[in-house]
Amino acid sequence: MKAKSFLKESLTKQKAYQVLPEPDLIKLNQNELPYPWPKAMRQALAKHLSSLELNRYPLTEAINLQKALAKKLKLKPEQILVATGSNMILQVLVLALKHKTPVMGVRPSFALYDLIPKTFAYPFVEVPLRQSDFSLDEEKFLKKVKEKKPGLIFLANPNAPTGGLYRQTFLKKLLKLAPGLVLLDEAYYEFSGVTWIKELKKHPNLLISRTFSKAYGLGGVRLGYLVGEASLMTEIKKAYVPFNVGVLSEQAGLFALKEEKFFKTKLKEILTQREKLYQEMKKIKSLEVFPSQANFILFRLKNPQACFEFLKRKGLLIRNVSSQAGLAGCLRVSVGRPKENQQFLNALNQFA
Ligand SMILES: Cc1ncc(COP(=O)(O)O)c(C=O)c1O
Repeated sequence: MKAKSFLKESLTKQKAYQVLPEPDLIKLNQNELPYPWPKAMRQALAKHLSSLELNRYPLTEAINLQKALAKKLKLKPEQILVATGSNMILQVLVLALKHKTPVMGVRPSFALYDLIPKTFAYPFVEVPLRQSDFSLDEEKFLKKVKEKKPGLIFLANPNAPTGGLYRQTFLKKLLKLAPGLVLLDEAYYEFSGVTWIKELKKHPNLLISRTFSKAYGLGGVRLGYLVGEASLMTEIKKAYVPFNVGVLSEQAGLFALKEEKFFKTKLKEILTQREKLYQEMKKIKSLEVFPSQANFILFRLKNPQACFEFLKRKGLLIRNVSSQAGLAGCLRVSVGRPKENQQFLNALNQFA
């Protein structure tokens, strides 16, 4: 089609991010909370939602959720930008950058960190993690920062899909050295218990993103937020599409914050299960299993595709990441409910 010739070449060249539907399988492929919200919580939310006037636009900034988050995190509301998922935040940050400014990250990491810059024709600079244990050559990374002067650095802490945290000493050095913004993506913060929110005061170039999609079990709602220095937020906000968070999503987020007790109980279960899963997987000689501070475990084996297909035939869907750069031989499994994890372990033992 002729009109296509007006589209960015960087866009038409790009492969779309896609997760294909696989019905009737045990889902251990998207690092979700494996528990749905209890019926009583869903009913209370539904009742509240039915009282809202949906003919009216939301306020531009999901102010009520912004305020509730500010209170919880001991920040000013102006330091928080709510968005339709943290994916949206990543895109907004890239689009806010001056044209052609390099974006930087590590490899392997979350796929959108390089997909978004590449789609919009920003250079992406990546430093490979060590193949042996997916740790970072910190000096190499810092040297690259000096050399390439990125306007934005994406680091998931813990990293996905490898599961490790960056060392504090490294991040402090990086925050001092980086000429531009540093986004620490804390999508899996609840599972690691490590946050850099307290460091915001010391580092005006630090941004932190969080999501309701993982520990709060709201992947289907699409809700995330960005925190940072207020004057920076004022500018970044302009790159948002107005009214991007609807009233239904905002209310779901507010309800989630009121139900901390439920989520804390589930979090504890996930952490216990993660440890059990890790220990049991480590007993399988043919696997190389990587320790994780998140709600998933990465492992390496000789024939990942065959293992992935075998698990699928057993009714289990995990993530085959083996074709991604730096992840040859690797599969990733999300921590599920005890019974699901046991089924996964049984099947994996059978395969191995
Ligand atoms: C590191 C990381 N950041 C962000 C996201 C996406 O979060 P959201 O659902 O809030 O868009 C994911 C999802 O898997 C992730 O792994």
